[in-house]
Amino acid sequence: MRARKKKHGAERIAACAHLLIGDPTVLKNDPQAPFPTARALHLEIGCGKGSFACGTAAAHPEINLIAMERVPDVACLALEKAERCRDERPDNLRFLIGNAENLTEWLPPHSVDCLYLNFSDPWPKAGHAKRRLTHRLFLERYQTVLKKGGVLRFKTDNVGLFDFSLEQFAEMGLTVTDVTRDLHNSPLNEGNVMTEYEKNFSEKGFPIHAATVHF
Ligand SMILES: C[S@@+](CC[C@H](N)C(=O)[O-])C[C@H]1O[C@@H](n2cnc3c(N)ncnc32)[C@H](O)[C@@H]1O
Repeated sequence: MRARKKKHGAERIAACAHLLIGDPTVLKNDPQAPFPTARALHLEIGCGKGSFACGTAAAHPEINLIAMERVPDVACLALEKAERCRDERPDNLRFLIGNAENLTEWLPPHSVDCLYLNFSDPWPKAGHAKRRLTHRLFLERYQTVLKKGGVLRFKTDNVGLFDFSLEQFAEMGLTVTDVTRDLHNSPLNEGNVMTEYEKNFSEKGFPIHAATVHF
């Protein structure tokens, strides 16, 4: 996701510091440390401007959600959105500015109940396959931080990325359920929280692909 360089970005992020996990290494000892109440821990990777994170935290007061985004100027927009709608949820949403490559350095093994990948960058060139967030290299990281029986919920508009991902899940021997190539016209859409990309692509008529992967 591209974002124009934000004017006063650092100050704007600092103004939302109460929603930010400034030092992700604190999670290693206690992944619930940023939250006032311990709850099932969910993690979104590549949260973009934060619509899904805000909607999911509000719809699920029984969870704590960490939304990770590697581009600070994009995370700034998500933080400001979360600040604007903070009255709609319990204090159960925090943001982490960082790269999913470092997940296992920050989170203890088997600490996450559910992980979300929404409209991850497709990296269509074969030479960039290792950058895809559903590449085996990333799935191995998710396997480390997810609890046994934890799930990955995956949505994309991109057929190439979806097919590649199903292959990677199968190569890892993971069970995949709730596979759909048209989420919005499927019973699986009940309770679906839309992302910015999802709204955009579905308004243009692209079907949304989704799957749940069991670790
Ligand atoms: C195509 S956008 C989708 C944003 C949002 N999930 C949505 O559906 O509207 C992908 C986002 O993932 C972020 N991202 C890509 N690779 C990442 C990584 N390795 N770690 C953290 N964030 C990443 C990008 O910066 C971008 O904001």
